[in-house]
Amino acid sequence: MVCPKLTPLQSRFAASLVASIILVIIYFSLSNPRFAYAAELSAPNGGRIRDGEDHNWHRLEGADDVEGYALEEEEDLLLDRIEEERGEEQEVVVRVKRATASAAPIALPGNNAPGNLNIDAGKIDYWVFRNATLWGRKTIMGEGLPSALKDERSVPMLQTHEGLERDVDDGSPELEQLNKRQDSGSRMVYISINTCLQPSYSGTGTQSGAPPQLTLNVSTTPSNKRPGPEANVASIPLEQGFAKFSFRAQSDIYMSVSAPPLPPSFTGGWNYDLAASIDGYYHKHNGASPFLFPVDSDTTSALLVTDNLSQANSSSEEFQKWMTLSSPFMMFAQNAEDKSVDGLQHSFCGLQSSNNIIASGDASTRLAKVQTGMITRGLGNKPKEQFYIQQLNGSSTYYGYLVMDGNSTLKGAGIVGGGGQVWSKMNFTTKKDGNCALLFNLSFCSEVAYAVPSNPNNFPSFESLAATYDSYAAALYQNFSYSLQQIACNTTSTSQYSLAKNCDDCADAYKQWLCAVAIPRCEDYSSNLPWLLPRNLGSNFTGNNTPLPDSILQQPFNPMSGAPTDSN
Ligand SMILES: *[C@@H]1O[C@H](CO)[C@@H](O)[C@H](O)[C@H]1NC(C)=O
Ligand SMILES: *[C@@H]1O[C@H](CO)[C@@H](O)[C@H](O)[C@H]1NC(C)=O
Ligand SMILES: *[C@@H]1O[C@H](CO)[C@@H](O)[C@H](O)[C@H]1NC(C)=O
Ligand SMILES: *[C@@H]1O[C@H](CO)[C@@H](O)[C@H](O)[C@H]1NC(C)=O
Ligand SMILES: *[C@@H]1O[C@H](CO)[C@@H](O)[C@H](O)[C@H]1NC(C)=O
Ligand SMILES: *[C@@H]1O[C@H](CO)[C@@H](O)[C@H](O)[C@H]1NC(C)=O
Ligand SMILES: *[C@@H]1O[C@H](CO)[C@@H](O)[C@H](O)[C@H]1NC(C)=O
Ligand SMILES: *[C@@H]1O[C@H](CO)[C@@H](O)[C@H](O)[C@H]1NC(C)=O
Ligand SMILES: *[C@@H]1O[C@H](CO)[C@@H](O)[C@H](O)[C@H]1NC(C)=O
Ligand SMILES: *[C@@H]1O[C@H](CO)[C@@H](O)[C@H](O)[C@H]1NC(C)=O
Ligand SMILES: *[C@@H]1O[C@H](CO)[C@@H](O)[C@H](O)[C@H]1NC(C)=O
Repeated sequence: MVCPKLTPLQSRFAASLVASIILVIIYFSLSNPRFAYAAELSAPNGGRIRDGEDHNWHRLEGADDVEGYALEEEEDLLLDRIEEERGEEQEVVVRVKRATASAAPIALPGNNAPGNLNIDAGKIDYWVFRNATLWGRKTIMGEGLPSALKDERSVPMLQTHEGLERDVDDGSPELEQLNKRQDSGSRMVYISINTCLQPSYSGTGTQSGAPPQLTLNVSTTPSNKRPGPEANVASIPLEQGFAKFSFRAQSDIYMSVSAPPLPPSFTGGWNYDLAASIDGYYHKHNGASPFLFPVDSDTTSALLVTDNLSQANSSSEEFQKWMTLSSPFMMFAQNAEDKSVDGLQHSFCGLQSSNNIIASGDASTRLAKVQTGMITRGLGNKPKEQFYIQQLNGSSTYYGYLVMDGNSTLKGAGIVGGGGQVWSKMNFTTKKDGNCALLFNLSFCSEVAYAVPSNPNNFPSFESLAATYDSYAAALYQNFSYSLQQIACNTTSTSQYSLAKNCDDCADAYKQWLCAVAIPRCEDYSSNLPWLLPRNLGSNFTGNNTPLPDSILQQPFNPMSGAPTDSN
């Protein structure tokens, strides 16, 4: 065969033409002309599988490119049309319009396995949770935490066995009944989404608001595989980077995540984690209570504790199990002035991936140091987790978030609740004057956990300050314990001094009183709260810029107006 000599443009044209003709032949030779892209539309930066939207035509220029796309018959994908068109430079351009928007809906990797994508403003991603996964085996959950938390409804940790239906979301008996009855026809599915990254502020001046949120649409209609303005099961705008939705499904579930247009003061896109599960939510936000309490603070540190984790007695197995856990929870803190986390406050992965977050656990040295531990201090002496945050700024308000990384023992794909959970935020404020230091962890006065008067020049370390106060109180206690030994309070009931209380009660009560008066609680000197009283001021405060007047410094004590008579 003799090949005519062709110019480069001509040979390109010829190749394109041949490819186009082949395509057209294939198109008409199939009885059911439905086509699919089987090619991986791999993304420039790893995760992205977005290659256009509604009006985006994918240009396949030249025969080589056409070969890159295998055309296959597949139910899910409709190749709406193939068109030949003559371009400006006499090139034949094959333009393939993809179904409605991007390629096929992307299948979620599995039950409890999130799909993660970047999305730019104005774009839409389409996802599908397959029927096969919906009807797959349920996950057998492990033992979970030693006991359900007080806020139990929002923290489903109870055991689930294969075949036993549980609606972890609502947990009401009616729903469980319903679950059991209807499992033959439909199954509960839990869809949740976390925004991990959001556009950043690029405007002038300080940021006042958060960037807009993504929207999650859910549909089950096969004809509405790309849930849009038509019939939807649900359309849920994310709130602070989080949305969840649960319903009973029978077959494939189609989801779309759409990004709104971006206001001019923000740049960049979003990154999100979308997951569906037949066992329970993968991502959680517990909005009912923060489950976290501020204890006290000084100018550089703050102490926080969780709520009671259990009401069990100290000898019980449940109590002991809680106390042997190293750190079931994590916490994040954020300077309240900083708006960069606004819009992600309900999202574990959003908070965790922010640079401006103080975090306990692995990444603990980002902005401040957080030490955690299990304690029983406080009313009731029940198990709690404590968070001691150092290196904070004085006179600042911080938002604190109690969070759980995964299900506390494991995280990530394949774990029920592996995406973590976030409780609602609380706030705490650091002191400003420098006349107080936070004190806790004392061996004798073990219930003390508050700021005490301190002079950082005399007591540069936490340990030296703690030892000074603690040994002072312990020494004062010694004579009391000798006296107590003279009292018949630890004997048979016939000879006991009192039947209502014994020696231990008495010793505890004295110790509590002694520690409270020997280790006074301290507030900023500048605070004008009505119940505060200046006491035994011998010197100016270190770190306080305004020196105190001699009239105050030379005063040995302040008369207490409401105190019993002769208390001077
Ligand atoms: C979904 O899967 C179930 C169980 O395998 C099957 O009975 C049902 O027919 C499937 N539905 C569709 C629409 O394929
Ligand atoms: C976390 O998940 C694993 C695997 O499902 C399970 O064994 C473990 O008990 C779970 N932990 C908690 C605290 O629920
Ligand atoms: C999601 O659903 C709502 C309400 O049906 C609709 O207005 C919106 O356009 C849908 N979003 C997308 C991306 O289709
Ligand atoms: C703890 O023990 C006391 C008696 O010692 C008992 O009255 C109480 O019910 C117990 N509490 C629990 C939660 O077991
Ligand atoms: C913890 O439990 C004790 C009783 O055991 C109760 O007095 C206390 O108020 C509880 N703490 C909180 C923060 O609810
Ligand atoms: C303390 O303030 C400085 C300056 O405003 C800021 O850069 C830093 O991040 C703050 N640190 C914390 C822990 O808030
Ligand atoms: C801190 O929380 C209290 C309620 O607990 C609220 O009244 C106050 O406005 C909050 N402060 C900030 C700065 O959010
Ligand atoms: C509290 O004291 C224990 C030992 O008594 C020590 O291991 C722990 O680090 C201390 N915690 C803090 C926050 O200082
Ligand atoms: C304890 O009692 C003895 C004897 O009365 C007394 O000398 C000592 O000062 C007392 N110690 C304290 C710390 O009060
Ligand atoms: C009470 O008596 C018992 C046995 O005699 C002893 O072990 C215990 O330490 C005593 N308690 C007090 C507070 O003295
Ligand atoms: C407190 O500071 C003022 C001003 O610096 C000084 O005049 C005064 O002597 C100081 N008083 C004491 C007790 O150190």
